[in-house]
Amino acid sequence: MSHGDIREKFLKFFEKRGHKIVPSSSLLPTDPSVLFTTAGMQQFKPYYTGQSDPMKDFGSLNTASIQKSMRTSDIDKVGDESHLTFFEMLGNFSFGGYFKKEAIEYAYDFVTKELGLTIDYVSVFGGEEDIPADKESEKIWKSLDRNIDIREMGRSDNFWGPTGKEGPCGPTTEIYVNGVEIWNIVFNEYYCNEDKSLSKLDKPGIDTGMGLERLAMVAQKKGNIFETDLFEPLIQLLPGEMNGHDRIQRIIVDHSRAAAFLISDGVVPSNKEQGYVLRRLLRRVIVHSHNFGLELDAVREIFGTIAGNYGRVYPELDKEKIISEFDKENEKFQKTLKGGLKELGKLNTVDSASAFKLYESFGLPYEVIKEVGGNKAETLTRSGFEQEMKRHREISRAGADKKFGGHGLLMDTGELKAGDEEELKKVTRLHTATHLLHASLRKILDNDVQQQGSDITPERLRFDFTFSRKLTPEELQQVEDMVNDAIKKELPVIKTEMSYKDAIRSGALAFFKQKYPNRVTVYTIGPELVEGQNSSTRTSSEPQPNSSEPPFSRELCGGPHVSNTREIGKFKIIKEEAVSADVRRIRAMVEGI
Ligand code: GLY
Repeated sequence: MSHGDIREKFLKFFEKRGHKIVPSSSLLPTDPSVLFTTAGMQQFKPYYTGQSDPMKDFGSLNTASIQKSMRTSDIDKVGDESHLTFFEMLGNFSFGGYFKKEAIEYAYDFVTKELGLTIDYVSVFGGEEDIPADKESEKIWKSLDRNIDIREMGRSDNFWGPTGKEGPCGPTTEIYVNGVEIWNIVFNEYYCNEDKSLSKLDKPGIDTGMGLERLAMVAQKKGNIFETDLFEPLIQLLPGEMNGHDRIQRIIVDHSRAAAFLISDGVVPSNKEQGYVLRRLLRRVIVHSHNFGLELDAVREIFGTIAGNYGRVYPELDKEKIISEFDKENEKFQKTLKGGLKELGKLNTVDSASAFKLYESFGLPYEVIKEVGGNKAETLTRSGFEQEMKRHREISRAGADKKFGGHGLLMDTGELKAGDEEELKKVTRLHTATHLLHASLRKILDNDVQQQGSDITPERLRFDFTFSRKLTPEELQQVEDMVNDAIKKELPVIKTEMSYKDAIRSGALAFFKQKYPNRVTVYTIGPELVEGQNSSTRTSSEPQPNSSEPPFSRELCGGPHVSNTREIGKFKIIKEEAVSADVRRIRAMVEGI
């Protein structure tokens, strides 16, 4: 059964059962609190909370997808039999359509009847803290197979979520075949709030995830994921010198595949966030290729094969772009790499500490140091090297915690990220510009326009909002003009604290389902300043906002903001595009950034 057969069987199975097939979303999520898309449910988060309407967008309460996903926390573990950075996730989802009974029956039928596999055992949530055990799932499993082996597990194994700082979450049941977990079925009964408390969702939902690579491994009866037809054609392209070096082979094929998908979703190598992950992946491919004499042309051929093999499913894969980014990064990295190898040549012995230094300063991975170091690195072990790495991580984390509150950044509110004072000034200007943009969109397009996400870097703002069609060039111009007009009017930006109730009563916009504390901060922009107004309540003779005019914008927000809109500079829209059926995205910048 090829991976193509598995994809087709899965989608057909759920389509036949009333699910709308939805294409994978980008690896770069709209939720700014997560770096990458890590699960199929991410693009559906607003449907679980009732904030978006699945009937309107999909014509069904149930969907299914095969989602491109990236999980980078285990990047250093890639090379064993099961870890990957990029993978694909098959999933079926329901937003109030069906719940435990159907979800378990579908999974059971798909695994045992459609794929003809035998289930070893299933796990269910055994209860923990105040959350009760999932006796209902146990009953459903027993009704399908009287003899099925059911194991109760705790919260760390059988409770999902949330992705990002908050989101839908709930107990899970998992299916094990040939000793590996293949399917995770989540019963989204709760909303996990940022403060870790749980609120009951109005309608419970279903979210499932089944890794394609693992499924292919058990369906194709292979010993590990790299022997499946998802990886075999790539491993074939590696030179004979790499035979027996399974770990290196796996790192090269995993990282090339992840890099190809990241580049095609618009990531370029850099020293920050997604760009930094891509840089690490590409550099590890380069270093191992260099060490084993894998020619650049052969690496390019691997990228070409990835683009070819996956092109039918993911037409966004752009072979030329992938290869050109790889070539550019290779050129940049060669100098450091040569420096690192030279440094290694100078050492008499290579122990954990010196090996880690080579890794940190030049990006030489453990394998290369061990391999090239030869006799000099005789006593160097992976566990020693990893211990050294862990020790350094702890030291630098402790430093970063003290300085930047644990982020390694000067500011990271989730929405706003800045590494130093200079960047902080830029993101602050863009942040106030975002409020002006939000207010202008509502005034020009529709008062129902709602913020869906906002992401601000020192270079630009990115604002997602609900609207169901492309904006005309005239509308974009009007929006841009309105923001610039508000900037020219030199409107004051005033921060006040009040109760949540008063804030909403005063017309302040709140961000959809976010849980707010009782006392909140509100930022009001405008109206214009007039001499002498309001002076009865203040002793100052400074100009005051004209209290008879409504403000230009008022939002619940944690800040920071400029104190007068004139500090923003000239506002310019760079791009307007669709994020999904009813969500648009605007990227904009301000002059001087
Ligand atoms: N959201 C379920 C999973 O990714 O396993």
